[in-house]
Formats: sequence, structure tokens, C-alpha cells
Amino acid sequence: MLGSTLVLALSAVAGVFASPLELIQRNEEHAEKRGIQPGQGNHNGWFYSYWTDGRGYIDYNNNAGGSYSVSWQNVGNFVGGKGWNPGSATRNVTYSGQWNAINQNSYVALYGWTRNPLIEYYVVESWGTYNPSSGSQRLGTVYSDGSTYDIYRTQRVNQPSIDGTSTFYQFWSVRQQKRVGGTINVKAHFDAWESSGLRLGTNHNYQILATEGYGSSGYASITVY
Ligand SMILES: *[C@@H]1O[C@H](CO)[C@@H](O)[C@H](O)[C@H]1NC(C)=O
Repeated sequence: MLGSTLVLALSAVAGVFASPLELIQRNEEHAEKRGIQPGQGNHNGWFYSYWTDGRGYIDYNNNAGGSYSVSWQNVGNFVGGKGWNPGSATRNVTYSGQWNAINQNSYVALYGWTRNPLIEYYVVESWGTYNPSSGSQRLGTVYSDGSTYDIYRTQRVNQPSIDGTSTFYQFWSVRQQKRVGGTINVKAHFDAWESSGLRLGTNHNYQILATEGYGSSGYASITVY
């Protein structure tokens, strides 16, 4: 809205009338440059979710098929990516991509939620300056897809969730040999969590191959297959 007003004003100043079609095209260029609005939906047959606390500059875009890209600068916190809704407890998730945030607080992870109870979970493939399990007690390990992952549980108190501000647990598998690209055997992690006393909810919500940034800047381009 602000964009089209600006274009109209500039056109008027320049003494040039833009046709409605030109205005639409200019707005599309504008949208492409700035990225899409935060939200959830379907794109090219894939579910996507893009959440931000609104701080900093984020340019998140859904690309063809299971691809997305995001660049961010001085953000508060965001999580975005493509995958499925509902998530599955048995899926093998294959993905590839690049992630330029090795010296930043950022993760590449399979990320999802369950309800009953409300749980936020991560299978962290790569992390930058901050290991999200720092300060937590390791509850177990699971070897899968070429590396050991360490298992943790943390608690979030009065934090954003798929059900608004809530208090809930987070389950984590954190890969020791970091990577970006490969196949994640979801069942291996969920079974190992259960063996470590971490039981997910019965009702699966979304499950995406996510990029997260926290107080950081970076770039990622990921494709889910
Ligand atoms: C996932 O991959 C594992 C290991 O290759 C295999 O044993 C299992 O059957 C696969 N699961 C599905 C749902 O394809």
C-alpha cells in the first residue's frame, strides 16, 4: 500500500502516468526485493512457515519447488522454511543448500511442533556461535545419518508458540559433525527422544527444514526434496 502510493507520487512528480499494469509490475518487483510477509501457507506444493519477532531486516523468499532463501541483518529472532503440515514421525527428510552464518547465532534444523502436549522440536544440523543446548543436561545420544546427535530438553516460559504465548518444552537433537545437506531420519530421532523420556505430543503440526537467526546476520538458501 505504501509502495503504490510512493510510486504514484513519484510518477506524478516526474509528470509520467503509470498504467495500472505497470503499477502492478512495479509492486511485484518491490515485493520480490523485500521478501514476503511473515506467515504460513502453501507454495509450489510445499508448506512454508516464516515467523519473525519483527526486529531487524529480513528478506525471506519462497523459490521454486521445495526451495527458499533468506538473508537477514541485525535481526531479533526469525525462523523460516519449507516442509509439511502436518509433520510426520516417520519421514526421511532430504535437503541441500548453503548457509552463510558460521560466525553468527543461527541454526539449520528440522523444526516442528506438536500439540497434546505442546512441544517445539529441533533436529539441529548446523549451528554457528551458539550451541542451543548450552547449559542443559545431555539426556542421551542417537547415531544417525553419519553422526552422533546429542539429546536435550529445555523449557520456554511465556514465549511465542503456535498457540500464542505459552509455556512448553523444546526437544533437541544437536548434530556433533555439523553439515548442511543430507537426509534426516526423523523416526531415529523421535524414537531416541522417547527412550530418553521425551515424549512428543500426539497431534503433529508443521515440520519444516528451517533456518533460524537470533541477534545475527546471514544468508541461507535451502531446498527440501
Ligand atoms: C528411512 O531411511 C531408513 C534408513 O535408510 C530406512 O530404514 C527407512 O525405511 C526409511 N523410512 C521411510 C519412511 O522411508
